[in-house]
Amino acid sequence: NKKAGNGKANGQPNGHAQQGGEGDQTLTTRQGHPITNNQSMRTVGNRGPATLENYQFIEKITHFDRERIPERVVHARGAGAHGYFEAYGMVGDEPIAKYTRARLFQEKGKRTPVFVRFSSVIHGGHSPETLRDPRGFAVKFYTEEGNWDLVGNNLKVFFIRDAMKFPDLVHAFKPDPVTNIQDGQRIFDFISHTPEAMHMITFLFSPWGIPANYRQMQGSGVNTYKWVNADGQGVLVKYHWEPKQGIKNLTQIEAEQIQGKNFNHATQDLYEAIERGDYPEWELLVQIMSDEEHPELDFDPLDDTKLWPEDQFPWMPVGRMVLDRNPVNYFAEVEQVAFGTGVLVDGLDFSNDKMLQGRTLSYSDTQRYRVGPNYLQLPINRPKTHVATNQRDGQMAYYVDAGPAQNPHVNYEPSMLGGLQEAPRSGADHTPYVQGHVVRQKIDRTNDFKQAGERYRMFEDWERDDLIFNLVNTLAPADRRIQDRMVELFTQCDEDYGRRVREGLEQARANNQQTSGPIGATSANEGVKEAEETG
Ligand code: HEM
Repeated sequence: NKKAGNGKANGQPNGHAQQGGEGDQTLTTRQGHPITNNQSMRTVGNRGPATLENYQFIEKITHFDRERIPERVVHARGAGAHGYFEAYGMVGDEPIAKYTRARLFQEKGKRTPVFVRFSSVIHGGHSPETLRDPRGFAVKFYTEEGNWDLVGNNLKVFFIRDAMKFPDLVHAFKPDPVTNIQDGQRIFDFISHTPEAMHMITFLFSPWGIPANYRQMQGSGVNTYKWVNADGQGVLVKYHWEPKQGIKNLTQIEAEQIQGKNFNHATQDLYEAIERGDYPEWELLVQIMSDEEHPELDFDPLDDTKLWPEDQFPWMPVGRMVLDRNPVNYFAEVEQVAFGTGVLVDGLDFSNDKMLQGRTLSYSDTQRYRVGPNYLQLPINRPKTHVATNQRDGQMAYYVDAGPAQNPHVNYEPSMLGGLQEAPRSGADHTPYVQGHVVRQKIDRTNDFKQAGERYRMFEDWERDDLIFNLVNTLAPADRRIQDRMVELFTQCDEDYGRRVREGLEQARANNQQTSGPIGATSANEGVKEAEETG
């Protein structure tokens, strides 16, 4: 409640608090000039023409002209919130220090501030939040040792295992470059050549592809990382977020009913829950595996199309996260926040997961372009700890991050004139030994269908029914060769899976269904919907 709401009370002749004083509500230009008329341009007479020295008008309009930055190439639509992470100090019944020396985890009850951004992937910044899409789940931990970003999704696996394929995957899912319409035929043309995607496709076309909102969904780091202890020993680790609110997903028809009335329902749900003090909470759990190739497993531990079986690698809680504060400004916080898989703290490390390595280049690269080279100076991205680099200048540099002890003339290292110095080591280095031929090859243990088939069989009946319904609706208008290849792949996952999609497609052909459109949408495919309902 600003004090200058009623200017008279503060005794200033113009009815405002003293300019620049606390509570001053005077509208100014960015140059600090008070604006006495915000309604009319300066013109020659009240019918124009306008004049070019109209600084106040030009500043207002030209800034407006630049209000947008490029949106994220993927994950453009999102919602965010602030909160905290609270450590348990343990992993299972062991002290966590046995596996990682990362300080944020060590002490039971220790709180680290976080900012989380949830997102959908394919469509633009104001697209409906009911679309079938993985959901992004990105967490920035502002730790005492600098920032840690855990950039994951809700489905725990991914479509591909080699970063080389990412732009093609995204192009196939994005709208057709000619019609600007998302097209199931293009998607399944690509997927029919990408058998490793079957696990993710089985999730995505089931109700798990449309979470009811952001509060009632899981999260996962998906890629395999490492933890490193004080002795420099590493283990492989996978991260999972489990919502205290439970998990809720939508059928295609339920999603369409919501979308007809509200295309912002997930953002609204998150914002309103936090406003009313109903703070969403997730537990962070990890799976740990020794840092080896594990030839005894029928999958490669670094393959992000696979889950690690819970009976062999139990989910072990390490902390909880609560979101308790909405952003003050969507653009400054949710739009400009920049997460990346390369942002780790001491005690957390990369594995050799090829996807993770490809991703790690991509995030900071796109952010230097999307937000600008000094994106890490923005309050939402800046660590809440000591930051001191010899990086200088570039667009929008607005401070020099040297401490008072530093000689301002020395922006290089080493120096004896008072420049920045290297930090002492905080534990033994983790120094994995790597040897091999430089190649372009797939991994050996691809095993593309087994976990997808297990997932199909694990679903409840209504989930399986919705999966078949959505796949048939999306595939029905596609080229027959693509349909046949997909049926072959579904059959390799599970015979019943393949049979049901094949029969659905035969029925759609009998109904002569031809319309293409967004994935799974029934509106474009009324014929199939009726066939499923009656048959
Ligand atoms: C966002 C690249 C795989 C989760 C992004 C962005 C890029 C990107 C360029 C936009 C970032 C920005 O503008 O700030 C890639 C590449 C991948 C890949 C090259 C594979 C090689 C994945 C996977 C996941 C994932 C496997 C899930 C585990 C996310 C999330 C965001 C995102 C959650 C949104 C972050 C935010 O809210 O700002 N990705 N990605 N990505 N990606 Fe990926």
